[in-house]
Amino acid sequence: MAYKIAIIVGSLRRESLNRKVASSICGLRNDNLDCSMIEIGDLPLYNQELDDNPPAPWIRFRKQIAEADGVLFCSPEYNRGIPGVLKNAIDVGSRPYGQSVFDKKPAAIVTASPGSIGGFGANHQIRQAAVFLNMPVMQQPEAYLGHVSDDSFDESGCLKEGPLKEIVTGLAQAFHDWVDMIHRSRQLLAEDSAHRSQQETKAREHA
Ligand SMILES: Cc1cc2nc3c(=O)[nH]c(=O)nc-3n(C[C@H](O)[C@H](O)[C@H](O)COP(=O)(O)O)c2cc1C
Repeated sequence: MAYKIAIIVGSLRRESLNRKVASSICGLRNDNLDCSMIEIGDLPLYNQELDDNPPAPWIRFRKQIAEADGVLFCSPEYNRGIPGVLKNAIDVGSRPYGQSVFDKKPAAIVTASPGSIGGFGANHQIRQAAVFLNMPVMQQPEAYLGHVSDDSFDESGCLKEGPLKEIVTGLAQAFHDWVDMIHRSRQLLAEDSAHRSQQETKAREHA
């Protein structure tokens, strides 16, 4: 079964390296990850005053995340942190208070950069937000993809053969397994709990 994955790219650039990495992940595992890129460039800046009358793009974004089985963040690092556009999307999805669409969604975080430390700072800032958002984030493999450039991709925007593609292929498989484990475990727990309450009802009836 293919899990529905919402991909949030933290760059608005059409030729974004991170967007290409995200597309490659979709292409590599399209048999079991049904990926959609979620637009965040049109989200008005989060303002708590609008909670009672949310702008249409907020409603659209929240619905798309709510419908997903998992979330993949794929982002550049800006000044050693999360790009503003991505932080805004995280804030929009997290509110109104108590209605966060990110709650309990399994997630993975990938950061890619032409620099050598692969967006480590941004990666961990997203991770920090995910703790508060109550998202079980895949721990390994970590994905700080350094030295990524236009040259890492072919004309169609897919990763060329080589070590980077190998890392990303492993990552895509691990993310599928992570989402699968979480959803299956929850299903088993729900079945177990339903079975137990059935048994308890029967026991009460025969008491
Ligand atoms: C405002 C700004 C800040 C940046 N800061 C960093 C940084 O802190 N670390 C880093 O590795 N690259 C930094 N870069 C370079 C980006 O990694 C590079 O432009 C990358 O291609 C952006 O990702 P994208 O291709 O997905 O748009 C910065 C770029 C911009 C525009």
